[in-house]
Amino acid sequence: MYKTHTCGELRQTDAGQTVTLAGWVHRRRDHGDLIFIDLRDRFGLVQLVADPETSPKAHAALGQVRSEWVLQVVGEVRSRPAEMVNPHLATGEIEVVATAVTVLNQSETPPFLINKEEPVDENTRLKYRYLDLRTPRMQRNLTLRHQVIKFIRDYLDEHGFLEIETPILFKTTPEGARDYLVPSRVHPGMVYALPQSPQQLKQLLMVAGIERYFQIARCFRDEDQRGDRQPEFTQLDIEMSFVQREDVMDLIEDMYTKMIPVVTPHKRFLRTPWPRLTYQEAMDRFGKDNPDIRFGLELVDITDLAKGSGFSVFAGAVEQGGHVRGINVKGQGGYSRKQLDALTDYVRQHGAKGLAYIIVEESGELRSPITKFFSEDETKAILERMAAEPGDLLLFVADKPAVVYDTLGRLRVHLAEELSLGDPDVLGFCWVIDFPFAFWDEEEKRWDPSHHLFTSPLPEDKALIDTAPERMRGAQYDLVLNNNEVAGGSIRIHDQALQAKVFSLIGLEKEVAEQRFGHMLEAFQFGAPPHGGIASGLDRLVMLLADESNIREVIAFPKNQNARDVMADAPSPADAGQYKDLHIKLDLPEEKK
Ligand code: AMO
Ligand code: AMP
Repeated sequence: MYKTHTCGELRQTDAGQTVTLAGWVHRRRDHGDLIFIDLRDRFGLVQLVADPETSPKAHAALGQVRSEWVLQVVGEVRSRPAEMVNPHLATGEIEVVATAVTVLNQSETPPFLINKEEPVDENTRLKYRYLDLRTPRMQRNLTLRHQVIKFIRDYLDEHGFLEIETPILFKTTPEGARDYLVPSRVHPGMVYALPQSPQQLKQLLMVAGIERYFQIARCFRDEDQRGDRQPEFTQLDIEMSFVQREDVMDLIEDMYTKMIPVVTPHKRFLRTPWPRLTYQEAMDRFGKDNPDIRFGLELVDITDLAKGSGFSVFAGAVEQGGHVRGINVKGQGGYSRKQLDALTDYVRQHGAKGLAYIIVEESGELRSPITKFFSEDETKAILERMAAEPGDLLLFVADKPAVVYDTLGRLRVHLAEELSLGDPDVLGFCWVIDFPFAFWDEEEKRWDPSHHLFTSPLPEDKALIDTAPERMRGAQYDLVLNNNEVAGGSIRIHDQALQAKVFSLIGLEKEVAEQRFGHMLEAFQFGAPPHGGIASGLDRLVMLLADESNIREVIAFPKNQNARDVMADAPSPADAGQYKDLHIKLDLPEEKK
């Protein structure tokens, strides 16, 4: 080893020892004769000091070094005088008096400072990711990610789970995105698909009698990039046999409620056990199926009051099958005209036709462009339903139900950000259950499963598949944390006849189903046990635990917003010979030729 100790471990009790350290020059300060260096490794920082009187050679060597040079230093640990103790540094009680210095490597001046947190263009960070990963923030994030995965592995091992790897070169496993394809050289014109998840394989492992499977699984999805999405991401993937949905939910809930106090002791749960909301309740109260339950601002339905009222915008929307819902922004009656216009613009951008408001002044008087259209009784009923008090701001959207939910759901989150309502150290976990089994796709004129097509309907709803599929609920569950879906899963169909009915409901022709999933259908003829599972987005979970707002911050080598690796420059053209080997001729869009 190049070192006897790490840069983070020396304490007062080590004073007098001779140690050898190795690491990077984090910072150098010249104080007249004395030179001070903060030497950094993954485990911490330690102050080196070089005195020209006692060690002229070490002093001369340290006089030459620059930021990010790699050093090996021999020296003696010495207590710092009381007034020099740095309480912010774990090694702040001591310093190491350098006696011998070896420069193990020099460094170019880095393109950004590593010893200071300052805003750096993200593509520069990604291009020099290996330098970015040296920063305390990224080292913290990678450490947290490791701790989360380690806890999960230990916990699941103790609970009888086997970790099993499944192939990356496989066949399409549809989860609603486009596939990444890998052309085959030996089978001209044929492709493997990278798994969007190990869904089929984990179900086949249940047929194989594994009973309790997990994997820290890499998944690949070609979809529009967002802050909480990567083309390549990691799931904690779980499948269990002989379980009902509560068993799967209980397992994850128990594991995460035990893990979080260990990995992030400063976080606390909003509520335990975690609330379980039906899809309908989540929509009605929060406007979305991945709600943030840390604050109020819940939606209130005034459709019945708006119906037939004097305000034609509201009454008309209801007449056409729409809803009118509102949010009481408690105590925010002071919002200016300009702020209200900005909120209106915000909901308009997301498809609402407008945003109606009523402000209840402290005096009890109303300020609103719409109250003039209502009778006194109508206004009174609305205020009562909204639990309005002096000083409140009431906001309303009238539209098709989907637009009302979506715009108010977003507005609620937007307002909470504006008003700083969500404490980042509070974890508002909740389960969302009883999703509609499928949503009607008006464009394609077919039912679209709300989870994937192996999801079972709730046992008590199974018969509805023939009579009223619109009322059928799925045996699925989503785990939501502060506005983010952090896990999703379901009880699966293990009965072939039902699977065939589901394929037919969603318009998947028999031949196509056979071609894509023949191996599954066949396997299910050989004693498939009842089973179910879940997958949790680890990048998202770690992102939230690390207080980051983008999952790239918790992935060592992520793709940028355009799905590119800007460090290695991928994707990039293959060699001409490689295309030939793969029997590929390019037909590029005009601008790329
Ligand atoms: P689902 O598609 O809901 O379910 O995915 C499970 C979880 O994975 C995370 N996730 C993502 N994270 C980052 N980038 C992405 N592009 C991305 N897409 C999804 C989310 C999500 O909750 N096979 C099923 C699970 C099952 O039924 O057991 C599945 O993959 O946190
Ligand atoms: P108007 O009569 O069009 O001037 O609208 C009066 C108020 O109602 C304005 O504040 C509009 O922003 C608002 N408004 C218009 N359409 C809607 C709608 N669909 N939902 C909620 N408010 C609306």
